[in-house]
Amino acid sequence: MTVTFRTATADDVADLDAHPPQTDLTCDHAAEVADTNNTYLLGFASGTLAAHGFVRWTGFLTKTFADALPGCAVINSLCVWPRSMRRKGIGTAMVVELEHLARTRAVTRVALGVYVDNVEAQAFYQSLGYDPWDGQPVLDEHADRHPDGFTMMSKVLL
Ligand SMILES: CC(C)(COP(=O)(O)OP(=O)(O)OC[C@H]1O[C@@H](n2cnc3c(N)ncnc32)[C@H](O)[C@@H]1OP(=O)(O)O)[C@@H](O)C(=O)NCCC(=O)NCCS
Repeated sequence: MTVTFRTATADDVADLDAHPPQTDLTCDHAAEVADTNNTYLLGFASGTLAAHGFVRWTGFLTKTFADALPGCAVINSLCVWPRSMRRKGIGTAMVVELEHLARTRAVTRVALGVYVDNVEAQAFYQSLGYDPWDGQPVLDEHADRHPDGFTMMSKVLL
């Protein structure tokens, strides 16, 4: 599957709002795209929007993770949609491109937060060389829906 990429602009916010986020949580796409600390990437398969995700270059917002891995780049909101487009390598292509962007900024470690109950995403990131954190998961504001908490994974870029 050939995936092409471009960075999102304000003109893409309506499409992103119609492109479901990775979980049942709501996202403020307009703010995420406008934030100059982020690079918001869109992935197109056969010309159709099939994936999105962004890197926050300034690190984790979750204090426990920021303290554990200060200064790393953080992948957020990666999602391949519709579901029928999954398991075709699009998510991998997105992460490879985001890692490429990180290397061009001389970033040496990329990380991400993931709910403990999202075992599919953990398997995906593990397939790409991301290691699980050995610290205790954090209970965030969505603990009612994710009672096992939020953990992180990371990869050193060679
Ligand atoms: C996680 C996600 C981005 C993966 O995207 P994708 O395009 O389906 O992933 P790929 O096709 O590149 O998968 C690469 C490898 O990851 C692993 N993998 C991917 N999805 C998996 C799943 N559901 N279960 C187990 N392993 C999985 C497999 O090893 C896979 O290789 P294979 O298909 O040859 O077995 C996609 O499932 C998704 O959008 N999920 C919902 C949102 C989400 O959870 N995002 C992550 C938040 S932290």
